[in-house]
Amino acid sequence: MIVCRSSSEIEKLRRVNLLVAEVLAALRQMAVPGVTTEEIDRVAEERVRAAGAEPAFKGYHGYPATVCVSANEQVVHGIPSKRPLVERDILSIDMGAKLDGYFGDCAVTVPVGRVSAEAAELLRVTEEALFHGIEAVKPGARVSDIGAAVQQHVEAHGFSVVREFVGHGIGTLLHEEPQIANYGPGGRGPRLAEGMVLAIEPMVNAGKPAVKVLPDGWTAVTRDASLSAHFEHTVVVTGEGCEILTLLESDAARVRELVGRSLLGSPSRT
Ligand code: MF3
Ligand code: CO
Repeated sequence: MIVCRSSSEIEKLRRVNLLVAEVLAALRQMAVPGVTTEEIDRVAEERVRAAGAEPAFKGYHGYPATVCVSANEQVVHGIPSKRPLVERDILSIDMGAKLDGYFGDCAVTVPVGRVSAEAAELLRVTEEALFHGIEAVKPGARVSDIGAAVQQHVEAHGFSVVREFVGHGIGTLLHEEPQIANYGPGGRGPRLAEGMVLAIEPMVNAGKPAVKVLPDGWTAVTRDASLSAHFEHTVVVTGEGCEILTLLESDAARVRELVGRSLLGSPSRT
């Protein structure tokens, strides 16, 4: 069953998702040469706890940290480490938090210093694919319309969509129904309805789609060692379309350029 949230629940989801987006915006500034991903994780945990929230990933099936940090050929679920970032890395930072019983989830992939033209294009196309997926979200649309839109955009640019991991419903659990694949034909699966809350998170490889999990049991990497990018937003289905709960006002103008309409719907935002 896919839960439709009441307006008071959506208010709580707004709060936690805004916190996640704000912390992530601070973390992405830290992604410069010489910084370790453990340092990024420490700041993430401090900021989440200072806001009265809890890390959502730490302890989830034994995951050991607040953020997932996945560099270069790492796809998702990389564990923070003492390896300093170096110029030309691309780094996915994924973070979830729980506040007042509700979860938020958001991810970005950022360049560390200057990156190759291919890496920059991979980041751009993956984020655009996320927004194409988000544009498919409206009452009456089907869950699989999201993945169809993502896949179409990714493959049109010669990149490939990871099959093994999916987006998800989110609310009082980090992972709720439905599962949201980032590929496949549209027009299938449950219909979306107002109040459903979805975490949409395409993972895109520069090379082939296949991935494997390293012996640490978490880190997913591309089998062909090609670069991989990951972007995630949490959205709520509204009467007309959707509102991105993890979109900061400072990013709204740039996103409006990308999608041609505002996805910062809430009149209650200040
Ligand atoms: N954003 C990812 C997800 O929704 C991160 C989960 S990491 C885990 O699945 F550690 F919590 F598993
Ligand atoms: Co997620």
